[in-house]
Amino acid sequence: MVELSKNHGIYFFLIFLLLSLASQLSLARPSKELKPCKHIVLHMHQVIFNGSNSANTTGAAVTSPVGLGHFAFGQVFIFDNPMTKDQNLLSPPAARAQGFYFYHMKTVPSAWMASTLVFNSTEHKGTINVMGSNFIPAKTRYLSVVGGTGDFFMTRGILEIEEDGVVPFVYFRLKMDIKLYECY
Ligand SMILES: *[C@@H]1O[C@H](CO)[C@@H](O)[C@H](O)[C@H]1NC(C)=O
Ligand SMILES: *[C@@H]1O[C@H](CO)[C@@H](O)[C@H](O)[C@H]1NC(C)=O
Ligand SMILES: *[C@@H]1O[C@H](CO)[C@@H](O)[C@H](O)[C@H]1NC(C)=O
Repeated sequence: MVELSKNHGIYFFLIFLLLSLASQLSLARPSKELKPCKHIVLHMHQVIFNGSNSANTTGAAVTSPVGLGHFAFGQVFIFDNPMTKDQNLLSPPAARAQGFYFYHMKTVPSAWMASTLVFNSTEHKGTINVMGSNFIPAKTRYLSVVGGTGDFFMTRGILEIEEDGVVPFVYFRLKMDIKLYECY
């Protein structure tokens, strides 16, 4: 009897050891422990075309909303926006965000966006391609970095967006926190 319980003790110990090893393996790559291999913070500015302010505009609606709901469902905007290191529109651009977005929800303002962040400076040369739903009511929105070229060859990561300043129908600024998790 004594022998048996001793054996049980060993089995329990082995099972405990295996379980704790297994749980360590499953925790080996939690998202929180991943550190970006490149991290760039920029502010994107869009001056919206209103029919006459063409000298400074960087974005314009190219379709009318289709008339469903109250949040411009179906309206498409094209943009070529400067991105600066600080919040000042007039600072020298560190990159440009070129692409489009369209409002895609009838009940909530939300812009589905696809854009190329073009870097052409002494610091960085290359592009970062991002896409996803920019759900405007959320304080922080997360878009996927789906690829890149040049200094950002084959990169992947997350673009975190926060609203940084708005003048309705005239101007908005977004803080873009670019976190890359694949760098070559
Ligand atoms: C363009 O921007 C400059 C600098 O902010 C400003 O002085 C000028 O009035 C703007 N022009 C138009 C047409 O909005
Ligand atoms: C468009 O923007 C310009 C420059 O900010 C402003 O002078 C003009 O009054 C605006 N036009 C309309 C129709 O809002
Ligand atoms: C990058 O900058 C160089 C030098 O100013 C210019 O010749 C080239 O056309 C630019 N490329 C892009 C994609 O903007």
